[in-house]
Amino acid sequence: MEEIIMAVILFGILIYMRIRNKQQTDNAEDNPKKLSLRAIIFPIHYFIRNTIFTTFKSNGLAFILVLFLGGYALLLAMPVWYINEKAGTYFLIYLLISWVVCLFPQRTELSSGELGKAHFINESGLKKGHLLNHNGLVFGKKGNQLVAKPDGMDGNVAIFGGAGTGKTASNLIPTILTYQGNAFVVDIKPELLEKTGHLHPNKKVLNFITPGLAYDPLAVIDSYTDVVDLAQTLIPINPDIKEPYFKESAQNILASACWEFKGTKSFSEIAEWLTANPADKIIEHLSASNKSETKILINAVAGIKSEQLASLMNELRNTLVVFATDPILRQLSGKGASISPKDIEENWIYLVLPESKLQVYKRYLSLIVSQFTRYLTQRPEKAQPNILMALDEFPRLGFMPAFTDAISTLRSRNVSVMILLQSLAQLDTIYQENGRKVIMDNMHYVVVHNALDNTSQQYFSDRAGAKTAVIKGKTVGTGGSTGTIDALFGSHSTNYNQQSIPLIRPEEFANLEKSILYAYNLGVARVDKAYWFKDNRMKSLVKKGG
Ligand SMILES: Nc1ncnc2c1ncn2[C@@H]1O[C@H](COP(=O)(O)OP(=O)(O)OP(=O)(O)O)[C@@H](O)[C@H]1O
Ligand SMILES: [Mg+2]
Repeated sequence: MEEIIMAVILFGILIYMRIRNKQQTDNAEDNPKKLSLRAIIFPIHYFIRNTIFTTFKSNGLAFILVLFLGGYALLLAMPVWYINEKAGTYFLIYLLISWVVCLFPQRTELSSGELGKAHFINESGLKKGHLLNHNGLVFGKKGNQLVAKPDGMDGNVAIFGGAGTGKTASNLIPTILTYQGNAFVVDIKPELLEKTGHLHPNKKVLNFITPGLAYDPLAVIDSYTDVVDLAQTLIPINPDIKEPYFKESAQNILASACWEFKGTKSFSEIAEWLTANPADKIIEHLSASNKSETKILINAVAGIKSEQLASLMNELRNTLVVFATDPILRQLSGKGASISPKDIEENWIYLVLPESKLQVYKRYLSLIVSQFTRYLTQRPEKAQPNILMALDEFPRLGFMPAFTDAISTLRSRNVSVMILLQSLAQLDTIYQENGRKVIMDNMHYVVVHNALDNTSQQYFSDRAGAKTAVIKGKTVGTGGSTGTIDALFGSHSTNYNQQSIPLIRPEEFANLEKSILYAYNLGVARVDKAYWFKDNRMKSLVKKGG
């Protein structure tokens, strides 16, 4: 009787260990689930050995326990022999073989993970990380469920993939269809307003195709810093420029003029004034101002040599001529019913423009994005509602110094940024390596549909980490010293080496079967694309608009 209770307790403990082991590895996709031959033929003995081995990662301990328990089982089974001699003999032989066979060490788990523990997390891992949802910032799907960051959870998102890989159709549109909160949406193709606009009756649209509402960049200018920001965004100095003097001076003239005429002229009128007048007249007029900020800014340019002045006026005119001449820009940056950054607290904001005119409107567009970004960093911490900044074709907006400054702050202001782009190389070209690092360090969730350039492939492979692989090798000796058996027959030995290999090799990113998601504090997962046009719920959301 006591023996039976003991056996039950022991098995109880083993089953408990088993469940715990399973829970610990449960979040990992493709854990090796190889069934060993020993497990099939000698299930009970192998169960004991395998449980001890996986719990303590020790072949020695498993050996000792099997030695003890297997011998004990043999003793317990002895009485069977007295009941039926023949069957008893077979049974005891079977137990004996089980015992001996299960004393041999196990190999499958040789991989200790010392050289890397990277793995793909599975559905239950994503669920524990609260990433299986109906709404939110959509990364993809797993089975029938959406993998998405909940609307109120903080963290920024970057979506990478070449043209036509589904960034817009499987990430951005599903996000805009399901997101609860307000959003700032840059619609360059344009397709987003058309498909999703009807869902957001509280929207305000800045439309470059059929202009209605305007956006006055001077409306948010309250301080000296604001006007300097404006000038720095319109005439950006890329970090790789060796001689920034001309651009800095052009910035100063622009800032000085904006400060001077703020409230009396519209932005397009200022642009016209600066492009139509000769340089000395402009400087003379601004220097004679009675506003101290105007004077401080223009003083930085006073005393400049005339040939230098010509170059910098060239710089200034190149930037501003479009504001002075393009009828749509004149209208949008002029006076009239206007959108301002604080509208985002109550409205969805869409910026709609034709792709073909992107180059013309780019600076104005990046100014608007920068001013919204600045505004959002000045919200109180954890302000409501949640706000999404959806920046499709992000690199095409050009260099925005305000964006790199703001990106780390936005997260705590209940703002999630979602940028969509083709590669890291694009970011490098615009923001240089340092700017790219700042941006990528603040992208807490990254989805990669594919990556074709070396920089991106290497970065994403490194970001996924390394796993430990067990490599099987065979050594064949040609014979040892004379007199040994080896000398006659040669010797064979099998050895197993651990090696650190990338979870995803760089070149695999060229052609991914599934998209890869890097989730903050959670790990790496493989997800399917969540195309809106393949999902009934989303299709009907789009249809409602007609
Ligand atoms: N309504 C639709 N019905 C069927 N297929 C569509 C629909 N809209 C887009 N697609 C297809 O989905 C794929 C992904 O398109 P998507 O616009 O998402 O690409 P993208 O990654 O945003 O590329 P790009 O960088 O060019 O914007 C394309 O092959 C496109 O043809
Ligand atoms: Mg797209």
